[in-house]
Amino acid sequence: MSQSTAWNPESYAKNARFVSDLGQPLLHLLDAQPGELILDLGCGDGALTEKIAGHGCAVIGVDSSFPQLQAAKKRGINAIHMDGHQLCFQRRFDAVFTNAALHWMKQPETVVAGVASSLKAGGRFIGEFGGKGNVEKIRSALHVALRRHAIDPAPIDPWYYPSPEEYSELLSKAGFIVTYIELIPRPTKLPGDILGWLEVFAQPFTQAVAEPERARFLKEVRTELATCLRDDADNWFADYVRLRFKAIK
Ligand code: BEZ
Repeated sequence: MSQSTAWNPESYAKNARFVSDLGQPLLHLLDAQPGELILDLGCGDGALTEKIAGHGCAVIGVDSSFPQLQAAKKRGINAIHMDGHQLCFQRRFDAVFTNAALHWMKQPETVVAGVASSLKAGGRFIGEFGGKGNVEKIRSALHVALRRHAIDPAPIDPWYYPSPEEYSELLSKAGFIVTYIELIPRPTKLPGDILGWLEVFAQPFTQAVAEPERARFLKEVRTELATCLRDDADNWFADYVRLRFKAIK
């Protein structure tokens, strides 16, 4: 059974602020115009939603995490609780924007169909998320350690990381014209120890391990990753690979 992630805005801000800090190229690709209405799908704590609104357009954020929505609302964002698999807008938006959210949505056809319905004719779908090979070293260390604890990682793994070809095909089948799609390897320096990253992002894996064994499990994962994701000065990196795209309805 897949476990869910409890997003904690404080922990997210401490360990994962780089996720929105590195969103500038995607904002550039969005090219939001004054007067437009834009949907931010998986808006999280609203850090990028706020920047989009700064372009003089109206933005609605949707997210499935109540604590993150609360953090977004504190920024003055119009944020609504909605699962990305259940978008219920009809031809309303000039653009749908999404950063670092789609890889958590394991029924991508359903999500893309909802995005298509949400857009006006000619509207744009601009996004970035984990692509093929994303955090492969971290994912592999988690899988190996889970198996060592006699747990099958397959039903637990929460991530969807398609190739550009796979995602292009999916978008085309939903009626989009893909004008740009690229896989971008982006090893990213973390603000602290890999344990901070695991605390925020690897909850489905760690929660699968019973409490008495969990600390040992995390130690095993950390030890394995230190050989490939930690440098001599004790900096930790995540082996991110982004899939960035622009598609027109
Ligand atoms: C990502 O942004 O690619 C990502 C973040 C957390 C977990 C997995 C992937």
